[in-house]
Amino acid sequence: MDSYINVPVAPAAKDARRTESIKLYGPDAFEGMRRAGALTAACLDGVAGLIRHGLPLSDINTYVLDFAASHDATPATLGYKGYKYACCTSVNHVVCHGFPNEKKLRDGDIVNVDVTLIFDGWYGDSSRMYAVGKPKRAAERLIQITHETMMRGIEAVRPGARLGDIGHAIQSYALSERCSVVRDFCGHGIGQVFHDSPNILNFGRAGEGLELREGMIFTVEPMINLGRGDVKMLADDWTAVTRDKSLSAQFEHSVGVTSDGVEIFTNSTKGLHAPGVEIEKAAT
Ligand code: MF3
Ligand code: CO
Ligand code: CO
Repeated sequence: MDSYINVPVAPAAKDARRTESIKLYGPDAFEGMRRAGALTAACLDGVAGLIRHGLPLSDINTYVLDFAASHDATPATLGYKGYKYACCTSVNHVVCHGFPNEKKLRDGDIVNVDVTLIFDGWYGDSSRMYAVGKPKRAAERLIQITHETMMRGIEAVRPGARLGDIGHAIQSYALSERCSVVRDFCGHGIGQVFHDSPNILNFGRAGEGLELREGMIFTVEPMINLGRGDVKMLADDWTAVTRDKSLSAQFEHSVGVTSDGVEIFTNSTKGLHAPGVEIEKAAT
């Protein structure tokens, strides 16, 4: 089985004691990621049909649990480091890791739903923004900008490019739109484990950092705020919120480096991974 080979990464001069190794995956792994990614995308497509004023976030959790159970998949977050839910639901100024609890969605809310399904051993990790009713223009604009930062980050991925190219693409676009990048969270290697090296930072300098090679698999998942980038952790030790209470948004895809570019594993067959598609479409 060509599940992966390990590549030792030359340690940075400043950090010479730390050696890291990044896995390079072959065709079987890409096929596994395609299947897991497609399932996660289908689950997020289904979530689109639920979103409405008055929906308890726990209904989204139930949906993800049922979806996973009926598709021979397991939600990776369940029991992960003590996390108790099948997904994360982050509403308005919640940056990430919000609990899908009894709280209800309200008209004008924006919510990120982050799902990771394990299928046949492979992890498909993806998140999208959903709008409840008609959010304010600023909220819709933040959603569009955040999706665009993720896509620009993904478009920077190809063999020979560097991690800093991804971060730079994300950061420079966010700043050009007068938004800020959350620096406390990042993307990550993924495959047959949830979180692997390398970290995929959402800021950086072009041409710096680890060189990307064919066969690397990781997530791109920028968190972008309308206000300042500072976050604070709530007392539950999971929920991260913006310090200034400004709106925050996030999108996430799991991707693989191909011989000449990048493959996105978590696209929706219905085209619902990108914002701006009406809910009616989701229901069909
Ligand atoms: N899915 C998140 C990510 O993108 C991780 C959530 S971990 C949890 O990496 F425990 F908070 F669910
Ligand atoms: Co992730
Ligand atoms: Co995720």
